[in-house]
Amino acid sequence: MNIFKNISITAFSLLTVLVSCKNQDNTKASSTDGNPLYLDATASVNDRVSDLMSRMTLEDKVYQMCQYVGLEHMKHAENELTPEELEKNDALGFYPGVHSDSIGRLAEAGHVGSFLHVVTPEEANHLQRLAQKSPLKIPLLIGIDAIHGNGLVSGSTIYPSPISQAATFDDALIKEGSRQTALEMRANGMHWSFTPNIDVLRDPRWGRTGETYGEDPFLVGNMGVATINGLQSDDFSGTESVIACAKHLIAGSSSINGLNASPTDVSKRTLFEIFLPPYRRAVQEANVYSIMAAHNEVAGLPGHMDKFMMNDLMRDRWGFEGFYVSDWNDISRIDIWHHVAKDFKQSIEFSINAGMDMNMHGPIFDKLLIELVNEGKVDEARVDYACRKILEAKFKLGLFENPFIDVEKAKSTNFAKSHQENALEQARKAIVLQKNDKNILPLSTNGKSKTIFITGPNANNQTTLGDWVSPQPEENVVTMLEGITTIGEANGYSIDYFDAGDRSKEITDANISKAAQKAKQADLSVLVLGENSFRHDWGRKTTGENVDRATLQLSGNQLKLAKEIIALGKPVIVVYVSGSPIAEPWLENNVAAVLNTWESGAFAGQATAEILFGQVNPSGKLPLTIPRSVGQLQMVYNHKPTAYIHKYNTEKKVPLHPFGFGLSYTTFKFSEPKLSKTSFSGIDDEITATVEVTNTGKVAGDEVVQLYIHDEVSSYTRPVKELKAYKRVSLNPGETKTVSLTINAESLAMYDSAYNFVVEPGDFTIMTGNSSSDKSLKTTMLNVPQLIKLKN
Ligand code: BGC
Repeated sequence: MNIFKNISITAFSLLTVLVSCKNQDNTKASSTDGNPLYLDATASVNDRVSDLMSRMTLEDKVYQMCQYVGLEHMKHAENELTPEELEKNDALGFYPGVHSDSIGRLAEAGHVGSFLHVVTPEEANHLQRLAQKSPLKIPLLIGIDAIHGNGLVSGSTIYPSPISQAATFDDALIKEGSRQTALEMRANGMHWSFTPNIDVLRDPRWGRTGETYGEDPFLVGNMGVATINGLQSDDFSGTESVIACAKHLIAGSSSINGLNASPTDVSKRTLFEIFLPPYRRAVQEANVYSIMAAHNEVAGLPGHMDKFMMNDLMRDRWGFEGFYVSDWNDISRIDIWHHVAKDFKQSIEFSINAGMDMNMHGPIFDKLLIELVNEGKVDEARVDYACRKILEAKFKLGLFENPFIDVEKAKSTNFAKSHQENALEQARKAIVLQKNDKNILPLSTNGKSKTIFITGPNANNQTTLGDWVSPQPEENVVTMLEGITTIGEANGYSIDYFDAGDRSKEITDANISKAAQKAKQADLSVLVLGENSFRHDWGRKTTGENVDRATLQLSGNQLKLAKEIIALGKPVIVVYVSGSPIAEPWLENNVAAVLNTWESGAFAGQATAEILFGQVNPSGKLPLTIPRSVGQLQMVYNHKPTAYIHKYNTEKKVPLHPFGFGLSYTTFKFSEPKLSKTSFSGIDDEITATVEVTNTGKVAGDEVVQLYIHDEVSSYTRPVKELKAYKRVSLNPGETKTVSLTINAESLAMYDSAYNFVVEPGDFTIMTGNSSSDKSLKTTMLNVPQLIKLKN
C-alpha cells in the first residue's frame, strides 16, 4: 500500500521548490560580537530560542517538525532495488520516487529538523555538515531506537532487553546502564533514544513483550523512571546526555487479539489504573522530554489524534513539558489504516491539533501543514509550540556549539570496559531459575570424565541479544555455547555440540534423530530453546516487533527435539532464550531444571554458564506471570477479585509461574512484616514496613523482598494485590538483614468516581515475601482513618 496515495504532487517536484535560500532579517537581536543572539552560547536557552524563532518563517518552523530516515538506510535500499521498485516501494525505498540525494539537499536547505536511524558516526557528521550549509545553520536532532544499548549501531554494548532488565528488580543498575548508553549514543552523534517502552504488558502474545518491563504498573514505572534518569540525567543539558522517549501512548500492549497495532478496547478505569501510571511518573518524576503516540486506537480513537491523552491529561493535568513524536508513518495511517480522516492532509490537521509535534517520517507533511496553517485549520501557535520545544532540545544538548563528533572517540566509548561490566551484571541478575529438581544445579565443579551435550536453536547465535539490535561483532558476544564451553571445560567437562537447526522453524526430523544419538553418548544435555526476536533475521523471527504469537508454546519443532532427548532418561536442563514467556507445562514437568535467561545481551552465555556451574547464584524474578496456556489469557497477578470465582473445563486456573517468582541455590526465611505505625494519616505520611530476611542455606545469595497491598473495601473494585515496593538484598549463609520498604500515599491511592487520585479510608492488607503467590507472603494490616486527596 502506498502511504502517499492521496498526494497529488510528486515528491521530486516538491524538492525543486524547496531549495531556496531565505533572506535573514538583520534587525534581530545580536550578542556583543555582532552575531545573532541565538548563536551566543552564554545567552539563556529561552532567549536563544526566542531570537532564533524571530528569524524563522512559518515554513522554517514547520521544517523543524519534519523527520526523515538516515541516508545510509535509503542508500542501502537504492543499492538493493531497481529504480522501478524504488519508485513503488515505501517499505524499503522509504519515500517512493525520492532519492537519498534529494533528502540530502533538503537537509542543506534547512528543511529537515531530525533524522532517525543514522547508524554510524560518519553519517551523523555528514548530515550535520549538510545542515550547517542551511541559512540558519540549525543542527539536526538525531534519534534512534537505543532500547537496551545503542544496538542498531554495530560495536555497541548490548545490555539485556527490557523484560530481562525488569527481572533484575535493580533500578540503580538499569539507570547506570542507561547512563552508559547515553554516552555511547552521544559519542556516535545520536541525541534522542526512542525508549523506554513503558507499555504495561497484559498479553504476552504481543511480540513486543521483550521490549516491555512486564505486567506490573509499579515495576514498569520504576524501570521507566530509572531509564529516563539514566539517559537524560535530569534535564539532558550538555554533551553527555540524550533525550528519552516514553512510548507508546497508549495501551498497545493489550490489543484485542494480541497483534501489534490492532485495536485496544479498555475502559477509562483500566487506562488510569494500569496503563497510565508509568506515564504520569515518567512526566512528573523523571521529566521525560518526549512521548511517542501509539499505532493503535483505544475505544475507536487512534492514539495519534487523541487530544484528551496528549494534551488534556499529559500536558494540562500532569504537566508534560516536552514534545510528541509520531510513530512510524502513523499520522498518515489515521487515514490509511483507521479511516477517520479523508486524506493525509486531514490526518495532519487532526494530529497536530491534538498535540502532535513531530512527524516520523517523510516528505509532504511540511507542505500540507503549511497549507493547513494558511487556511486557518491549524493555529500557528501549535507550530510555534512544537518548534520551540524541538529547538529548546537542540540548544540544551549543545548542538549549536558543536554538532559534530570525534569519530575516534566513538570507537573508544563503544563497548567500554565499564559498560561491559554493567551489561554482564544485569544478565547475572536477570536470569530466573524456574525449576531445579533435586538441586541438579549448580552442576558439580568436578566434571572429570563427564560430557555435556548442547543443542537447540538459540545455542550458538546472537538471538540472545533480542530485538532492536543489528548483528554485532562476534568477538563482542558470548553465545550460550561459548559461555558453557569455557566455564564447563575449566571445570573438567567435555562439551559436545550439535547444530540441530539454527532457528526453531528449521529443525528437521533427521536432525532431531542425530541430536538424540549424540545426547545418548553424553551424561547430561543442555537444551537452549526459545524464540527469536532478532530483527536482522526478519524472515525467521518468531516474536518481536510485528511478529506476534497465537500460542505461548515453543515454536517449530523444539518440543519434539526436547521430547526425543528427554526420552533417553538422562538429566536434561532447559535454557530458555526469549523475550516472550514460554508456556510448556509438560516440558517443565519432565526436565531436571529450567533456566529462563530472557534475552540477556552480549554476555548471556557467560552469565548463564556462571549460574549453571554455581559461580553466580540465580536471583532474577519474573516481571510477568507465565500462564500455562494461551487459553488462560488474560492472566496477571494483579487481577480483580472475581477473576477466578469459576473454573475452566480443561485447564487449571493457576499459572505455570507467578509474577515475582524465581528460585535460588540457597533458601531464605522471612519474618512477618512490622509497620512503623498502623495508621496512615495524611498526604505526606510515610510508613516503613520492616522484614527480617535470613539466608538459611549454605551459599551466599540475593533475594528480592517484595511488598504488596490490598485495599480491603473500596468504592470501585481493586486488584487482589498490587506491588508497591521491593528491595534486592545480598546475604551470606546464616546472615539476617532487616529490610525496610516504604509505603506512601501513592502506594494506597486509587481513582474515585470523578477520577481524582485519592486514598479512601479503611483497612489495607500489607503483604511481604519473595513472590506474588499467596503461599510466599506474610501479612499485616494498615488503617487509613480518613480520605486523603493527592495532587493529581
Ligand atoms: C516502533 C517504535 C519505534 C519506531 C522507530 C516503530 O515501528 O513502533 O517503537 O521507535 O518504529 O524505529
